[in-house]
Amino acid sequence: MSIAYMKPMLKKAQSEKYGIAAFNMIDYNSARAVVDGAQELNAPIIIQLSVKTIKIWGFKPIGDWVRSLSESVDVPVALHLDHCKDLDVIQRCIDAGWTSVMFDGSSLPFQENIRQTKLAYDIATSAGVGLEAEIGAIGGTEDDKFVAEDDAILAVVDECVEFCQYFPDLAVFAPAIGTAHGVYKGEPKIAYGRLAEITSAVDIPIALHGGTGLAADQFSRCISSGCAKVNISTMHKLQFIQGFTELKDQKPNLGEPIPFIEAQYEHMKTGVKNMIALFGSQGKA
Ligand code: 13P
Repeated sequence: MSIAYMKPMLKKAQSEKYGIAAFNMIDYNSARAVVDGAQELNAPIIIQLSVKTIKIWGFKPIGDWVRSLSESVDVPVALHLDHCKDLDVIQRCIDAGWTSVMFDGSSLPFQENIRQTKLAYDIATSAGVGLEAEIGAIGGTEDDKFVAEDDAILAVVDECVEFCQYFPDLAVFAPAIGTAHGVYKGEPKIAYGRLAEITSAVDIPIALHGGTGLAADQFSRCISSGCAKVNISTMHKLQFIQGFTELKDQKPNLGEPIPFIEAQYEHMKTGVKNMIALFGSQGKA
């Protein structure tokens, strides 16, 4: 299949109440593990990238990798840009074949967030590409952005309604609901009540950020309340590292790289399949 568009995938997930996993890819091997895991479970999938990862590999190589991986399977694979405030990066992703992009203006004052999100929205919609936008402040570290737990701010329902009125064609909306990027320090404090108020006021699929470390019942409560895109980054990164280090511990003298690449691939693919099964998107391609 050619690279898929995220918006129709998420609309269907929202109405049928399952979650589509969005993994932050690391390298070609990690993208391969994500796509093959989705194919094995016949699930739609999203590959997303932080700006930092794009800077390592380049726009065109990533676009080419994901396009060829997507063409090798018959499940929909969307290519998405995670948190980004740079309109030039957004344009370059679109030019290289990304089918959706996120503009993250959540650290800006509310009206300025609307103004700048509008610039990204116009770029994305005129290219036929989906946009994700955020309000409130999601805690933790993602890419170069750090929000201390005490500074995390839940999205305000009235602001969610006002914000989304400006962007009727938004592919996915990311209001802060208490989850955090990275490894949780204590028990995650998800504002389920706030999530329910937002989803009854705004009919746009919701992105659940900070998926690593949430328990099965936390995922399913969020998904049944309207979270259609479920972001997983830290878990995938840790599995990338563990795949390598576990084999190194077992065979310290192994000097051939291919078994390490295969061990990483298997480790990441198992994690991908576990999340797909947990989010209910198995068989939904
Ligand atoms: P985690 O790193 O907590 O999985 O969060 C991922 C995320 O939300 C990416 O935007």
